[in-house]
Amino acid sequence: MALFKIERTSSPTPAEARRRLLGLPGFGQVFTDHMALISYSDDQGWHDAKITARRPFQVDPASPVFHYGQEIFEGLKAYHHAPREGEKGVALFRPDANARRFKASARRLAMPELPEELFLQALEELLKVEKDWIPEGEGHSLYLRPFMISDGAFLGVKPANNYVFCVLASPAGSYFSKGAVSVWVSENYTRAAPGGTGEAKCGGNYAGSLVAQQEAKRQGCDQVLFLDSANRRYVEEMGGMNVMFVHRDGHVSTPPLNGTILRGITRDSLLRLGREMGIEMREEPVDIEEVFAGARSGEIVEAFACGTAAALSPIGSFRRPGGEVKFGDGNTPGPVTLKLREKLTGLQRGRYPDPFGWVQPV
Ligand code: PLP
Ligand code: COI
Repeated sequence: MALFKIERTSSPTPAEARRRLLGLPGFGQVFTDHMALISYSDDQGWHDAKITARRPFQVDPASPVFHYGQEIFEGLKAYHHAPREGEKGVALFRPDANARRFKASARRLAMPELPEELFLQALEELLKVEKDWIPEGEGHSLYLRPFMISDGAFLGVKPANNYVFCVLASPAGSYFSKGAVSVWVSENYTRAAPGGTGEAKCGGNYAGSLVAQQEAKRQGCDQVLFLDSANRRYVEEMGGMNVMFVHRDGHVSTPPLNGTILRGITRDSLLRLGREMGIEMREEPVDIEEVFAGARSGEIVEAFACGTAAALSPIGSFRRPGGEVKFGDGNTPGPVTLKLREKLTGLQRGRYPDPFGWVQPV
């Protein structure tokens, strides 16, 4: 396994300024002083692993990342973790799952696979240097953003021979500022088609979603929901989260993994936790007509978004050109949503036992 060289910055953020920055709410606005870097070339393989001062990259303007978008990323969080009174530790949640998904994304984008142990080591080494940047408080964490870009100087459409893997760290509060999220159902745009890159976590998927997210904002909504590209009928996922529905009889449904949506780690964790809690968790096609009709008739009583950045965020309403449906007053989370959120976040923070071995102390 490669050894990480540690190059500490000569001008770290002063403790007082760091405390002020840690108090800022929101997501992805503040970054810590260091980053992890690992280089790759076809000749040398993975090499030159280091933790170094966060600074701009020097990348050739002819690098394929700028022209053909050969880029992938991940997202996970480091938390304060207190399994017992008075104990204080730091933990990551299922980082091995992120490492595996990163490899799968790399395969889809014809990029080299970063070995899982190197991915995990980069996170751990960065955390050792940046642990003072983990904010206190429920819902607060240090969001880690591993990503890989292609490097080189050519304009042929082909995979690069050189790559850079990097991890950034960013203290984060809530992704959404409200109690419940309003969701715009996109009829004009879809996110991914069968055989496309929907299941990969690549920047291009998000670039293509921005215009739909802008449309959602224009319609007064917080987030966009995509339907399947073939029928424009079945629910897929939101711009940056998976989605689940709670039915009157207590069961929870979520669209199946069919290759066009992201294999959400939060989604998978909730499916398993919910079953453990005695909730019937179904992976089945969700027809948007049934969502609107079900919300009106009371067949569907709650909905929520789930993902690393968003955690588990209640959905208050769905809107589309033909009308809107609300759950309750459109702003109050339902009981099943709250129960699942408490169980997931409690397990992550160490308030509940972790029978799955998901929580990885660092
Ligand atoms: N779907 C999309 C499009 C996402 O960007 C995310 C966030 O990473 C998710 C789903 C949820 O995935 P995870 O729970 O692994 O964060
Ligand atoms: C994450 O949850 O980690 C994501 O990448 C989604 C994005 C909306 C920030």
